[in-house]
Amino acid sequence: MSHFNQVANEWDSEFKVAMMQKLATETKKVLSLTEKINIMDFGCGTGLFGLEFSEHAKALTGIDTSEGMLEVFDQKTKDYPEFESKNINLEEDSLDQKFDLVISSMTFHHLNDPFKTLETLKSNLSGSGKIAIVDLDQEDGSFHPDNKRMGVKHFGFSKEKLSDWASRLDLKFEHSFINSIDKNDREYKQFLAVYSHV
Ligand SMILES: C[S@@+](CC[C@H](N)C(=O)[O-])C[C@H]1O[C@@H](n2cnc3c(N)ncnc32)[C@H](O)[C@@H]1O
Repeated sequence: MSHFNQVANEWDSEFKVAMMQKLATETKKVLSLTEKINIMDFGCGTGLFGLEFSEHAKALTGIDTSEGMLEVFDQKTKDYPEFESKNINLEEDSLDQKFDLVISSMTFHHLNDPFKTLETLKSNLSGSGKIAIVDLDQEDGSFHPDNKRMGVKHFGFSKEKLSDWASRLDLKFEHSFINSIDKNDREYKQFLAVYSHV
């Protein structure tokens, strides 16, 4: 069983709820959303980050590859028809649907090919759409206690790398640090990268 299926029912710890709320609050400040829009939450998990965008969602589609995480997401959203989930791997498959905003929190470091996935997500954007990615700044591999077991494929991402992706995809790019986590006697920074059409 995959790591995320195993941990799904205990995922929403006090620490994670607080962290995702902070990340979402800071992301919303940067995006300054005004009207209700169509949102994709890529790697939605149990919805801790994405559901913080509820007040801005005309519709919100949570995408994830873990059945266990999606069961929790579906349970939380079952009374709200504007929320749906899809178990689809955008590293391999495509989704014929456009979004005004794609958000993604702490998922990119689990991808085999994050650049290619960003290219796929670009193809899912409406004309004025944006992609907002939150993840770890480049780290030394000590953030997760067991990288292999937890499916960690990248030790965060530097600003330079994220900016290079923008140049290669001809996208506008804004970068900021929106949170930090004290752990292992050091500080791990979390960035927000916003990509949009030039
Ligand atoms: C660290 S969790 C973050 C979950 C969520 N964003 C939150 O706010 O709590 C990473 C999530 O990415 C999902 N994931 C990993 N690879 C994926 C892929 N290729 N496509 C979609 N989701 C993926 C995992 O199943 C997991 O739910």
